[in-house]
Amino acid sequence: MTTALSSPRQETASSNPPQDKAISLDSLSPNQQLLPLTAIVNSSDHLEIGGCDVVELVQQYGTPLYILDEVSLRTACQQYRDAFSKHYQGQSQVLYASKAWSCLAVCAIVGSESLGIDVVSAGEILTALRAGVSPRLIYFHGNNKSVEELSYAIESSCTIVVDNWHELKTLERLAQEGNLSPRIMLRLTPGIECHTHEYIQTGHIDSKFGFDPNEIESVFAFLAESSLNCIGIHAHIGSQIFELQPHQDIGGVMVHWFKLAGEKYSLQFSELNIGGGLGIRYVESDDPPSIEEWVKTVSAGVTAAFVTEGLALPKLLCEPGRSLVGSTCVTAYTIGGSKTVPDIRTYITVDGGMSDNPRPITYQSKYRAVVANHMSSPLSQTVTIAGKHCESGDILIKDIQLPFTNAGDILVVFGTGAYNYSMASNYNRLPKPAAVVVEGGESSLIIKRETREDLLRQDCLPERLHK
Ligand SMILES: Cc1ncc(COP(=O)(O)O)c(C=O)c1O
Repeated sequence: MTTALSSPRQETASSNPPQDKAISLDSLSPNQQLLPLTAIVNSSDHLEIGGCDVVELVQQYGTPLYILDEVSLRTACQQYRDAFSKHYQGQSQVLYASKAWSCLAVCAIVGSESLGIDVVSAGEILTALRAGVSPRLIYFHGNNKSVEELSYAIESSCTIVVDNWHELKTLERLAQEGNLSPRIMLRLTPGIECHTHEYIQTGHIDSKFGFDPNEIESVFAFLAESSLNCIGIHAHIGSQIFELQPHQDIGGVMVHWFKLAGEKYSLQFSELNIGGGLGIRYVESDDPPSIEEWVKTVSAGVTAAFVTEGLALPKLLCEPGRSLVGSTCVTAYTIGGSKTVPDIRTYITVDGGMSDNPRPITYQSKYRAVVANHMSSPLSQTVTIAGKHCESGDILIKDIQLPFTNAGDILVVFGTGAYNYSMASNYNRLPKPAAVVVEGGESSLIIKRETREDLLRQDCLPERLHK
């Protein structure tokens, strides 16, 4: 595959996507790019993704609009898969952490690339199943799964990643009542800290997720007598991580538990899941490792640990979310009014905001954007992009350099594939945006835009309140 776009890694803050250099997409790790791999500036001076002119997409589907680049998503899936084949001698399985974006089309695309799916609710299980993913490849997480969700997962033959004692005992009861032996794994907190945003760290000792190392032996003792079929252990140490060392170290921590389970409790584990967490490039200064570097590192760490302990290599699973889908999608907005506060800043308002992208207000996350309908115009102003919600904090991007803009121009924000649609809300009763997938010059709707009527769908007005 070739593109007219040179690597966004070579861009500077003051340049839009260049147009002149043919490069191979296969060699680019999507998580290291600001833009989707197929992004170019076309002869109309418009941003084009997947062969589709973004301005035309907006005319057809409206704004805000999530635009998913299929080539980028498939490339990311293939890079994970191929890197494991190249760097890990044992079996492996990549699972997509669908909390990043759970919808039929995304699950179907990653499923067709032979990835499994990590889910955290009955809704995500249903989505993965309806997208055609085999239940054998669906792994169910969560720190407070309901009995109904657990029963649904068992009936559907998904693997359940058990988080705590309450869940373990509930599962044991369900297994005995149904004379079943569901496949489970155990989530452990490995005590590895990452230098990432504190709200999205999940793996250190003070975590709501997983069994504490102090209770693991008693869990193993329980499992040795139980009807549950425990196939292995799991750990996830955080998200948006740029360092390789913590993921290198996971193997060394987990092998200890693997060995103990076999030697002392005769539990024959076969799978080790080291979670997700590889970061992506949201702004120029972000410099995450490539997908291949990450896979190579975790593979080396796990291999060294298991060889040292004299154990056979486990089937190695990982469950990336952000680094699979994050950089593959952009959000297009229509610019509305502006407001200049003299000597302070100029606000430019768009027709979405924290309801379609809650990450800036929640995590102070940073994003980059371009004006998609005049890509080559000089960057002439520093502005702040404000959402339309009734919250002063509803700011999508603070102090970004843009060309001069008018109401009606199209602003495209990059890197919105992960934890945007999946965290979207109807705050202020805004309908959720539509999403399209683009590939080879074709666009297809993957999520319909909500209507005003949709917003009332679940409302009930008791008779006595009716006038
Ligand atoms: C258990 C688990 N696995 C996988 C992921 C995916 O992480 P990321 O999107 O950073 O790859 C998460 C996200 O927090 C998680 O909690």
